[in-house]
Amino acid sequence: MTSRDDAVEAVRSRTDIVALIGRYLKLKKVGSRYVGLCPFHGEKTPSFSVNPQKGFFHCFGCKASGDAFSFVMRMDGKTFPEALESLALTAGVELPDRQRTDPKKREHKQRLLELLEVAAKFYEERLWHPQAGQAARDYLAQRGISSDLARRYRLGLAPPGWQNLCDHLRVQKREEDDSLEVGLAVRGNRGPYDLFRNRLIFSIIALDGKVRGFGGRKLDPEEPGGKYINSSQGPVYDKSEILFGLDQARMEIQQTGRAVLVEGYIDVLSTVGAGLQGVVASSGTALTEGHGKLLRRFTDRVVTLFDGDEAGRKASFRSAELLLSMDISPYTVLLPVGQDPDDFARQHGGQALIELIDGAKSSIEVLGDGLLAQAGDNVEARTRAVHSLLPLLRACHDPIRLSGYVRWCAERFGVDEVALRQGMRAGRAPAPARVETPVKLDRSEARDWTDDELHCVTLLIQFAKLIKQAADSGVVGSFRETGLKSLLEALVQEGAATPSVLVAGWGDGAIKEALSARLVLDADLPAERAADDLEGCIRKIKARRLQERKKGLQDKITQAARTGQDEERRRLAVVKMDVDRELVALGVTVKAQV
Ligand code: UTP
Ligand code: MN
Repeated sequence: MTSRDDAVEAVRSRTDIVALIGRYLKLKKVGSRYVGLCPFHGEKTPSFSVNPQKGFFHCFGCKASGDAFSFVMRMDGKTFPEALESLALTAGVELPDRQRTDPKKREHKQRLLELLEVAAKFYEERLWHPQAGQAARDYLAQRGISSDLARRYRLGLAPPGWQNLCDHLRVQKREEDDSLEVGLAVRGNRGPYDLFRNRLIFSIIALDGKVRGFGGRKLDPEEPGGKYINSSQGPVYDKSEILFGLDQARMEIQQTGRAVLVEGYIDVLSTVGAGLQGVVASSGTALTEGHGKLLRRFTDRVVTLFDGDEAGRKASFRSAELLLSMDISPYTVLLPVGQDPDDFARQHGGQALIELIDGAKSSIEVLGDGLLAQAGDNVEARTRAVHSLLPLLRACHDPIRLSGYVRWCAERFGVDEVALRQGMRAGRAPAPARVETPVKLDRSEARDWTDDELHCVTLLIQFAKLIKQAADSGVVGSFRETGLKSLLEALVQEGAATPSVLVAGWGDGAIKEALSARLVLDADLPAERAADDLEGCIRKIKARRLQERKKGLQDKITQAARTGQDEERRRLAVVKMDVDRELVALGVTVKAQV
């Protein structure tokens, strides 16, 4: 085990998960568990449950689940290393990694963040200055953005003139190089000057509450330069990894179960002002995978709210494609052409805007119907429309969703489902050839199997001393590739359910839910029964695998007999007899077969 794993283990064992979660919500003891109102979705009766012995939580309502690390990650929007760091601090555990990271680099980053904070305060101060900020405040009022909201989002004003911020930073003894590095200042012939001049400032704030950069909107349309300019990217700011408004919206996103993505800064402010919850925007860039990852920490549903013009449709399409590829369900709302969310809310009221979002249809329907309407009755145009929808189908990972999408497209466009699937494959690199045709399992059989695999793994997580028994039995080879297999392999290798093993096992959504539910429910399982239970599970799992193999062999034997490959048939029959013997050894009665 590496020292990092040791540290993770130390943090976990010294973290009281009940105390940790208790800081965010009220927990009540029920038997050996604690229950409370789930912080991840809105509910009135508690379905959120904590198992202190094993250090897990699980919500039977929204299926949120995990350990202390995942709780902090979801609740505070942290990455695993960040969660580890903050829990280590509380637990008083020194992390080896931190000692190894270059302290100089850390200090440098820290200094840049402080500089950005000084700048943000400067811009804010200017905006709220009785005289200097008057015109900018009038502009905000005219755009329907209240002072309250402007303060909450830390809006500011970069005054006209070339040196205001630079002078201020000099007085504050901030280094010139740093201002150049974060892009607040620009190098000029006579020294650095301010990048943002006479602009309304939007502070771009990360999930840790720290200002990472700025967007500046022109206040005087006569002035040269783009409508917006943004801070340059650097060591603390990467626009593809940050979403404007997310730090404000994340709780709402968790509670409403969806995020709303709009085009710009002003859109965020005006829709939030109109009463919409969970609104974010990317800053001057198309939606990226980094943004998708951020959103996925809080929800698996995203509604895009864009202008209904051609550009807006294209942006909706690209966003939907990206979201789908990340297993986030995309919904699309297109506003009347040429309208901002702001215009819409003014015309129809905030409630109408909220209803529009709440009633949002899935992206494929909206975009597909849009294409259909454009194509009209023309067969060629319709064909092109179907083709241009294919990238959305291709981005779909979830087979169930894909089948719904394919059916919808087929019905709507009057094309064959099989043809659609062929079209999908045609534009994509060929899948690697299958070595063996997998045997189809009856659904209920597959479920029982998963159940046994789950039970086996939960037993081993709870009773580490049984891991050897499982390892010796060779049951690993009979596990299917559902994610549980790699979890089991990790358990065997580590010899105990260390947090790193468990974090690795939290990969697959459905398995993760099932596993944490089992861990909470099985908390009181008596140790005496565990070894017997495990033995039974192992037998059933192995038997299922063998029966699956047997079925496959039987199919091949039939095939060989039909095509007159006698030698092959005899060879397969021998293999099948071995399988039968193994089945008998497991106590399964085997029907004699001629
Ligand atoms: P919009 O042009 O739609 O601006 O650009 P907006 O936010 O709605 O502002 P108003 O309503 O015209 O005042 C949407 C977003 O694209 C980025 C900004 O993030 C902006 O909020 N953008 C736009 C730029 O980065 N640079 C530009 O020159 C224009
Ligand atoms: Mn706009």
